[in-house]
Amino acid sequence: MRARERIACPILAPAKQTECCDTIMQADYSACVFLYYMDTFTEQFIRACKPGGHILDLGAHVGKYSATFADRDFLVTAVDHACDDPGLDGVRWAKADIKEWLPTFSEEVMFDGIFMRNILQFFSAEYATDILFPLLDKHLRTGGVIAIETFYADPAPSFLVPFASYWSAEKLKKQFSAWKVLHSKQYKEEREALKGGRHLFRITDVIVKN
Ligand SMILES: C[S@@+](CC[C@H](N)C(=O)[O-])C[C@H]1O[C@@H](n2cnc3c(N)ncnc32)[C@H](O)[C@@H]1O
Repeated sequence: MRARERIACPILAPAKQTECCDTIMQADYSACVFLYYMDTFTEQFIRACKPGGHILDLGAHVGKYSATFADRDFLVTAVDHACDDPGLDGVRWAKADIKEWLPTFSEEVMFDGIFMRNILQFFSAEYATDILFPLLDKHLRTGGVIAIETFYADPAPSFLVPFASYWSAEKLKKQFSAWKVLHSKQYKEEREALKGGRHLFRITDVIVKN
């Protein structure tokens, strides 16, 4: 089944969603896929990646971005520790903890693009700097692209999990100082937390190419 056909299924059977999916995403699922398909951050990442290349989607959730990449003829490897394989064409799925799964890669496993949307904030800055980024660098081909969107909000009881790190655009660019910056944006936005309550989120988007 093609990715876009498959991705619409959860809206017909929301009960089949895994427990990690929030109700807003379930309700708006097909609309989200279309919006995400069109969003400039994802589009910029796609345009910067080698056509038909191999993309790693870290913290893929139910696979909406993975589906978009597969639909655009990339080979996709996706990982999420909370979500089962949605069975998307062109997507290899791993239900695993990134921290344990990434170090198991053999030397030959290489990617043309690494997509990290709303995942970095769950890791400590030390883990990201000392372990995660060096590992990603090792498995990214020359000319490869990393897209990071991350956010932070001050701790609140209505958050499902506390955020472990905040990355400003400057801090992220410093981390990738030898790379070419394709996109960098930092902004604040009021958003609803999954368990309710509106909070001010600091959002950072950076896309870099090695
Ligand atoms: C905020 S959601 C972002 C999902 C998607 N990338 C997006 O932007 O819509 C974070 C996802 O990362 C997953 N996640 C968090 N920590 C993880 C870990 N250590 N290993 C694998 N997945 C993880 C969660 O299960 C969740 O689906």
